[in-house]
Formats: sequence, structure tokens, C-alpha cells
Amino acid sequence: MSAPVTVDERLIQTLRESASTVFLTGAGVSAESGIPTFRDAMAGLWSQYRPEELATPEGFDRDPELVWRWYEWRRGIVSRTHPNAGHHALRKMQDCLTDPILVTQNVDGLHQRAGNEQTIELHGNLFRNLCSRDMHAVTAGQLIPGVPPRCTRCGSFIRPGVVWFGEMLPAEALERAREAARRCNVFFSIGTSSQVYPAAELAEIALGGGAIIVEVNPERTALTPYAEFVLSSPSGAALPEIARRLGSN
Ligand code: OAD
Repeated sequence: MSAPVTVDERLIQTLRESASTVFLTGAGVSAESGIPTFRDAMAGLWSQYRPEELATPEGFDRDPELVWRWYEWRRGIVSRTHPNAGHHALRKMQDCLTDPILVTQNVDGLHQRAGNEQTIELHGNLFRNLCSRDMHAVTAGQLIPGVPPRCTRCGSFIRPGVVWFGEMLPAEALERAREAARRCNVFFSIGTSSQVYPAAELAEIALGGGAIIVEVNPERTALTPYAEFVLSSPSGAALPEIARRLGSN
């Protein structure tokens, strides 16, 4: 059994008074659903696979079949999982708060499956497909089967709708996230190593605007020294406890 989570009453009070709260999530929030994170030393994806081969436009140009198969494998893993207690608690917290905005680096769609509202996807979504020529969105009916499939309009390879290393984040999503970080009073960083920019910059923007930082992560990160509240527990334990306390008067 995991250790009980202690939540400072000052955090609950601050959340009740907050006019705007941002939740930034990373791979750790989906770890308890059985989806591997990226940087955990033993089980993290980037300790077993080479990101430059699998998550760059150059890697896709070199070996589109390998890259497509790897993403099909990841889609398979995610399809067999379900949102966990952390995702569900975020939904409950959103119901209790004023102007809650969820920003995720995750591409697994579990926040949406848990009914989390106002979800801004910074790194795209595994289950979306794009034409690799001009990046227009392609539906299942608009692709010619193959590995990878091809675009019915121009014959180019189809690629997964995720952001790869060296690529720009979707401009509108990033701007909305930056704007939310600028205006929030409380900024949660949940299950992210805070190493990948520009997502990691959002906490800096929030701090610059006077927000307080809350970190939920069993491990320390570069952000920990700046956090007013640190919950060193798995998000599937910490977030339900915060939701429970917020819900009780
Ligand atoms: P990382 O794998 O870098 O970090 C995951 C974090 O989750 C670590 O700090 C863990 O300590 C923490 N963690 C693990 N289990 C947890 C749990 N049960 N509850 C809470 N925290 C837990 O993943 P990200 O920070 O999301 O980008 O990585 C950022 C980006 O790097 C990803 O979106 C991906 C990757 O390359 C792209 O694919 C573009």
C-alpha cells in the first residue's frame, strides 16, 4: 500500500481563492495507466529506443516503415489502457475551481477520455494522422493502406499527428498555453521532468506573473526548488486527495 498523502490546508485554501489555475501534465500522469514515461532510467522509452530514429522528421525520411510501426505499437499500448485515478481527480478538481486550464504534453488522449475539459495538447495526439507533405489532417477514409499508409490526395506518406524533435509546436495551442500561464494564480506541474522546452517554459512564465507553483512528482526536478507546495507522491494518489479536500467544505 502506498504512503498516505498529506496535503497542506494552505494549498486547498489557495485553490479555493484562485481566479485561474493551470495544470501542466506530462508522461508521469499516465504512468499508473501502464503507459511508459520517456526519461525514467529503467522503463522510460528513451532508455530503450533512440529518439533521433523514431521521433524526428529525419528519422521518418530514413525509415518511414520503422517509425510508423513504432507508433502503431504505441497506439496499441494506449488503446488497451484506461484513464487512472489521477485523470479522474483532475476532472473533479476542474469542477471545483474557477477557470481551470489543462495543458498536456501527452499524446495519449487519456485526459479527454476522463472528461477533462479545456485540454490543450502541446505535442499533438497519437491517434491523429497527418499528410507528411503539407501536414493537413487526414481521416481514416482518406488514406491508402500501407506501412505507412499514403495520402489519397497526393500519394505522400501519412505520419502520426505528434510533434517530433526539431519541429515547432502547434502555434495556437502554444499561445493559448502561454496566455493561461501568464494569467494564472496557481500553476500545477504534474508528472513531468520539466526538461523539454517550450513546455517547461510555461512554469517560468507563471512564476514571472506571480503565480505559485505546485509540483506533483515522486522525484525531484529542476522545478522543485521553485515550488511552494511539493507533493512527492504518484499523481494517482496525490490528485484524488486534493480533489477530495476541495470537494468537502
Ligand atoms: P518524462 O519521462 O521526461 O518525465 C516523466 C516524469 O514523471 C518524471 O519526472 C517522473 O518522476 C514522473 N513520474 C513517474 N511516475 C509518476 C507518477 N505515477 N505520478 C507523477 N509523476 C510520475 O516525461 P515528460 O516530462 O512528459 O515529447 O516528457 C516531455 C516530453 O519529452 C514528452 O512529451 C515527449 C518526450 O520526448 C515528445 O514526444 C515531443
